[in-house]
Amino acid sequence: MSDWFDSTPPVILTNRLRLRALALGDAPAVYSFASDPAVARYTLWSVHLSEADSVAFIHGLVGPARLTWAISLIDLDRAMGMVFLHSLNRHHRRAEIAFNLDRRNWGRGYVSEAASAVADFAFHTLGLNRIVATCMPANVAAKRVLAKLGMVREGQMRRSHLRYDGAHDMELHGLLASDRARAIDGSHRVVRHAVGEASAAPPSH
Ligand SMILES: CC(C)(COP(=O)(O)OP(=O)(O)OC[C@H]1O[C@@H](n2cnc3c(N)ncnc32)[C@H](O)[C@@H]1OP(=O)(O)O)[C@@H](O)C(=O)NCCC(=O)NCCS
Repeated sequence: MSDWFDSTPPVILTNRLRLRALALGDAPAVYSFASDPAVARYTLWSVHLSEADSVAFIHGLVGPARLTWAISLIDLDRAMGMVFLHSLNRHHRRAEIAFNLDRRNWGRGYVSEAASAVADFAFHTLGLNRIVATCMPANVAAKRVLAKLGMVREGQMRRSHLRYDGAHDMELHGLLASDRARAIDGSHRVVRHAVGEASAAPPSH
């Protein structure tokens, strides 16, 4: 399996977006959207009350078994959201995908484009067999993104996730490498990984 598994994620360019490793320097940008109650409505984390919350949040997203990208417009390196693979499991070749976006940019297809590129990276470069996603049943926008990725709703897990206001049911959605090959939509293809390189090469360590 690719050594990207334990590395800083590479830059991924899509038609409109630049995805690059989320960093602590993104804390002000993250705070600007994670402090919005509308963004935090269906997330397991609570609304950020200060930039210190965003710093702690970023620390939690750049640890082992996770790859987190900041989403920015291709020519403007300001994080307007993030997409991440977490719970990476090398043995079972699977991971979970999640995402968030600044409310001002909702409904423009940005997260579908970013998540699609990350799914391609997960299957083609990491060599994963399966990606899952969980979301609250009422989160229709997230479910639509997952459907556009080609994900299949596999069921509802009763009171499976705890957050500050109690235990929540979560829907489980899954995507296999073979599903993805069928669902791929050319408009969301990755343009290339790692700026300046024709194809992504795993780190040498
Ligand atoms: C979920 C989220 C990341 C989607 O980002 P986005 O860039 O707006 O998503 P896209 O534009 O790619 O796709 C959203 C789709 O949901 C649809 N949608 C959004 N709100 C909807 C609603 N209330 N009812 C029905 N469809 C809705 C959009 O029309 C779009 O579908 P379409 O392309 O077929 O028109 C964004 O809404 C967000 O950050 N939400 C808060 C954080 C969150 O809930 N993250 C997910 C946790 S599981």
